[in-house]
Amino acid sequence: SVRTPLVVGNWKMNFDHLEATYFVQKLAWLLRDAHFDYKRCEVALMPSFTSLRSVQVLVDADRLNIKYGAQNVSVTNQGAFTGDVSADMLARLGCSYVLIGHSERRKYHPVDDANIVDQVRAVLTAGMRPILCVGEGLEERREGIELEYAVSQVHDVTRDLSDDQASQLIVAYEPVWAIGTGMVATPSSAQDAAKAIREDLAQTFNNHVAQAVRILYGGSVSSKNAVETLDQNDVDGFLVGGAALDADEFSLICRLA
Ligand code: G3H
Repeated sequence: SVRTPLVVGNWKMNFDHLEATYFVQKLAWLLRDAHFDYKRCEVALMPSFTSLRSVQVLVDADRLNIKYGAQNVSVTNQGAFTGDVSADMLARLGCSYVLIGHSERRKYHPVDDANIVDQVRAVLTAGMRPILCVGEGLEERREGIELEYAVSQVHDVTRDLSDDQASQLIVAYEPVWAIGTGMVATPSSAQDAAKAIREDLAQTFNNHVAQAVRILYGGSVSSKNAVETLDQNDVDGFLVGGAALDADEFSLICRLA
C-alpha cells in the first residue's frame, strides 16, 4: 500500500492502569530491541478510559513513539451527561485516535448513524482522528450483500463531511462474524471490502481523499495471518483485539506490518 500502515491494539475492557503501563513499557522495549521503525509503521493502543492518563504520563516521560486513543466518546462537549467523556477531555490526554461505532458498542448500547456522525464530528473538531468501525454480520454475508452493507455504513456516516474532514478518517473493516472467533476473513475478501469502501470515498469526495484514508482490517488478526492480509493493495493495517493483549504477539504483528 502507498499509505503508512497503522496497527491498532484495541484492549476492549481489559487491563487496569497498572497492567496498561506494564504492557506499554514491555511493548516499547520489544520494539526497540527489534529496531522497529515507527516511521514505517504507526502503532497505537486503545486502553480503557481509566488507563489513559497513566499511558500519557509514561509515553511523555519516556518519549515513546507509541500512539494511543479511546474506545468511545460523547457527542457533546460538556454538561450534565453522567458517565460520558468528551472529545476535548481525550484530546487533552494526548489521544490521537478514537474508535467509533465498534460492533460491540453497536451491539450492547443503543447507537444509531446520527449518533455516529456526531461522534465523528466531535473527534475531528477536537483535533483527533476517528477510527470508524464497520462490517457485516453473518446474515448479510449469507445474503451476499456484505460489500454493499459495509460501503453504506461508511457512506451514510461520512457523506456530509468536508473533503478535509474526510481525509482525516480511518476506517476499520471488521466483519462481525470474524471478531473474537478465530475465523479470519480471507485476504481477498478483506481487499474486496477495502477496495469497495475506497471507491465509494472517491465517488463521494475525490480520489485524493480516497487515497489518503487508511482502511484497516479487523477480526481475529494474529501474527499467523497478518502478512497475507497486509499484502493487499487497499488494506493499510489492522485493528487487533485478542492478539493485542499479549505484548510479544502484538509486537510481532507490528513488525510484520
Ligand atoms: O477491535 C478489535 C476487533 O474487534 C477484533 O477483535 O482480534 O479479538 O477478533 P479480535
